[in-house]
Amino acid sequence: MTAPPPLHGMIYRSRSALTGTPREVASALGGILDVSRRRNAEDGVTGALLLRESVFAQVLEGPAAAVAETFARISADPRHSAITVLEDTPATTQIFAQWSMAYAGDGGMPDIPLTFGLDDTRFSAEQAAIMDRLRSYAGTL
Ligand SMILES: Cc1cc2nc3c(=O)[nH]c(=O)nc-3n(C[C@H](O)[C@H](O)[C@H](O)COP(=O)(O)O)c2cc1C
Repeated sequence: MTAPPPLHGMIYRSRSALTGTPREVASALGGILDVSRRRNAEDGVTGALLLRESVFAQVLEGPAAAVAETFARISADPRHSAITVLEDTPATTQIFAQWSMAYAGDGGMPDIPLTFGLDDTRFSAEQAAIMDRLRSYAGTL
């Protein structure tokens, strides 16, 4: 038996370069999510993406090599700039295991609402804690 590959988790923040009407921005974002979900599912990468005003914050987690390759592609993407890594650590589990890329936004149809209702049981405490960090990072650029 071979050992499972080491897991890695990271969070970065960037400034969105998506422009246009809210509908155009939503459409461009939909394109990013479609590709992300397909590629991440192939690579075993999971996570969540937040877009708040013009700031992205994203958590990526999965096999270390796959996370590094995914982040290398994301870093070269002209649809955002000022990419800053805020957390970058070995991980023992994939906290967003059921999402190849969940979307949390302040418009459109997010998978994860920006505010959690007290009766909302879809999210684990660990997921809620990471979403809180994404929101606070997105609010400080
Ligand atoms: C904010 C943002 C987040 C992204 N997240 C992912 C992601 O999680 N996984 C992914 O494969 N691509 C993601 N992308 C898209 C990549 O930058 C890239 O366009 C895509 O992986 C296809 O790469 P390729 O054209 O080199 O094949 C993201 C792009 C942006 C702007």
